[in-house]
Amino acid sequence: MLQAAILGLGWWGRTIVRTMQDSAALRVVAGIDPAPFAASACAELGIRHLPDFAAALADPAIDTIILCTPHTQHAAQIQAAAAAGKHVFCEKPLCLNLADAQASVAACNRHNVMLGVGHERRFEPAIADLRALIDAGKLGTILQIEANFSQDKFLTLPRDNWRLNPVEAPAGPMTATGIHLLDLAVSFLGPAERALVHVKQLGSDLTNGDTLAAMIRFKSGANALLTAILATPFDGRLALYGSQGWAEIRDKTHPEAPEGWTMTVALRGEERSVRDYPPASSVRANLEAFASQALGKGIYRMPQSDMLATIAALEAVFKSAASGEIEAVAVS
Ligand SMILES: NC(=O)c1ccc[n+]([C@@H]2O[C@H](COP(=O)([O-])OP(=O)(O)OC[C@H]3O[C@@H](n4cnc5c(N)ncnc54)[C@H](O)[C@@H]3O)[C@@H](O)[C@H]2O)c1
Repeated sequence: MLQAAILGLGWWGRTIVRTMQDSAALRVVAGIDPAPFAASACAELGIRHLPDFAAALADPAIDTIILCTPHTQHAAQIQAAAAAGKHVFCEKPLCLNLADAQASVAACNRHNVMLGVGHERRFEPAIADLRALIDAGKLGTILQIEANFSQDKFLTLPRDNWRLNPVEAPAGPMTATGIHLLDLAVSFLGPAERALVHVKQLGSDLTNGDTLAAMIRFKSGANALLTAILATPFDGRLALYGSQGWAEIRDKTHPEAPEGWTMTVALRGEERSVRDYPPASSVRANLEAFASQALGKGIYRMPQSDMLATIAALEAVFKSAASGEIEAVAVS
């Protein structure tokens, strides 16, 4: 079993500790956070409180670092963890630009440690079934994706919170929820080629924007139309259209507290089918798959080539949101 220290004990760090509490593959045993609540949060979660990151890196009982910190810190923290010989699981986005992502992946490979990313949506059961339908050729050639991931959890954040800072969270909702859709699109369509993105502050006082629309063209020729809104109640939906049929997955709730999914499949010449999926923790499934490969017991279904392709596309999204123009995606 991996023994992890978690850096960042905010919303998501605590969610991960609780989600993994009875896992047989990975357990969070220690926490670090500069905030005054760190010691009491660790006591409440039943984990050791460490004074700083260096203490975790020097601790031989810790073999894994989980990063739940603000986005600008990810690259340096991944590389420091790798240099200390620790496996790294980094929350999304892996990094904010391709050069940092390439340096981070290279550091993990150089030090022979495993790298994982918090793209748990890949591990949702309905997404796995959609992938199986595609692999079996049931949907034919993939033509287009339409997807939305919206929520209103940030409306009450203090105005000086890092999530409202355009350096930490460029393009408004993109690093919060849009990135999950971008990663899913990369997982189905491969590397992206160019992006046209609009972000506006329309329905809240989230000053770096609350409403995003992105059209991403992929090298395959297919497009993904991605939308993410931070000023409307939760919605999660992904539709994938193919030359033989289409499938749409609707999420009942945010992955924080999953209540299941509904998948509709329409294949040419067949009656439309609708299937309900019971709740399952994709956050846990992602971390357990990461642990399984780190322990030499399985394969982590998130190739490094996809990690890099997602960040290459993310960087083009940021550029297009700023310029209002179509921006090319760098080759990753
Ligand atoms: N996978 C998902 O679905 C999902 C959901 C929510 C958040 N996230 C990601 O998790 C990360 C954290 O987001 P959050 O919502 O928990 O933010 P948050 O603001 O609630 O928590 C961040 C915490 O990091 C701490 N921190 C800052 N610098 C630190 C450092 N150098 N060392 C240790 N701790 C430090 C802060 O004090 C804070 O407590 C982000 O990357 C975010 O995108 C992922």
